Amino acid sequence: MKDDQADHYRITTIEKHILDQQRQYPEATGILTSLLYDIALAGKVISSKTTRAGLAEILGRTEEVNIQGEIVQKLDQFADLTIYRLNDHTGRLAVLASEENELPLPIPEHYPIGKYVLLYDPLDGSSNIDFNIPIGTIFSIYRRLSESGPGTLEDCLQPGINLVAAGYIIYGSSTMLVYSTGDGVHGFTLDPSVGEFLLSHHDICIPHDPTYFSVNLGYRKYWSEGVKRYTDYLQGLDGKRKALSLRYVGSLVADFHRNLLAGGVFYYPADNKDPGKPAGKLRLLYEAAPLAFLAEQASGYASDGAHRILNIEPEALHQRTPLFIGNRDLVEKAEEFIHLYG
Ligand code: AHG
Ligand code: MN
Ligand code: MN
Repeated sequence: MKDDQADHYRITTIEKHILDQQRQYPEATGILTSLLYDIALAGKVISSKTTRAGLAEILGRTEEVNIQGEIVQKLDQFADLTIYRLNDHTGRLAVLASEENELPLPIPEHYPIGKYVLLYDPLDGSSNIDFNIPIGTIFSIYRRLSESGPGTLEDCLQPGINLVAAGYIIYGSSTMLVYSTGDGVHGFTLDPSVGEFLLSHHDICIPHDPTYFSVNLGYRKYWSEGVKRYTDYLQGLDGKRKALSLRYVGSLVADFHRNLLAGGVFYYPADNKDPGKPAGKLRLLYEAAPLAFLAEQASGYASDGAHRILNIEPEALHQRTPLFIGNRDLVEKAEEFIHLYG
């Protein structure tokens, strides 16, 4: 990297990068820039806790069970409250919705109401918190549909094609914020010495030649014939392609981030483990759709096995979906196997 380019990378903050991007949109008001900055600040606060979770009495579980029926980890709760409290008073949002709360989160009456909607998974990969495995925050930003007054549930139930911006923060060997406003995918690494996210990965594109596939092979016996055959294909068992390496962390953000940079496919397919449960574990609105937006911005694709994730019209805040995401040709191959074999 030439010196001037290195300098450009070293000092490009999120604000400068977004303002440079928004210069192309004269009508841009800068509110989205500020909203992304608010999310970055939440990421810094959460990161400060995750990097010393073992010391900060914040490991382990609360006594609570969330709307997902899952035991709430202390860090889940901390992250959830941090994001809400850093965004409930800014006048940029009409409503928020979080994985940890059954209903949309209103803006308190004494604060101004804005035009954006923020949906988020405050802490993804919670089961890994106590084992020092990377976890993350995932967010989606929409424009409100309702004209005025408090934001509504309908404002939250929008298809991914309406996304204004989406991204994630990954708390790993470094803390990174990766986002897109529809103009490519860009990664910023937190420099703790200055407390700023600085541009480190400009215009990320998924490498054409994939390296990994990511799935919980432990559930193979619960999959459909098509998903089993697809998995055999990825492992080169049918001789049609070279075997891919298996990497599965159990944190969607970590698995997605690795495949975004190295090339590969992540999938959490429908399974018949709990016949009474809806197909797929991952949530459409604050896991699948935001990452699908990023995947497509990085030349990839995301599907539920039959339909483009970004086209799915949500009917419920916490609805789940099967997810195949990563290199476009690998995801389309999954759709092919499922179409042929079910
Ligand atoms: P969350 O911690 O927000 O509930 O998300 C956990 C998800 C996702 O991060 C990961 O890909 C998946 O759960 C792992 O599920 P399994 O343990 O069933 O493989
Ligand atoms: Mn999650
Ligand atoms: Mn979560």
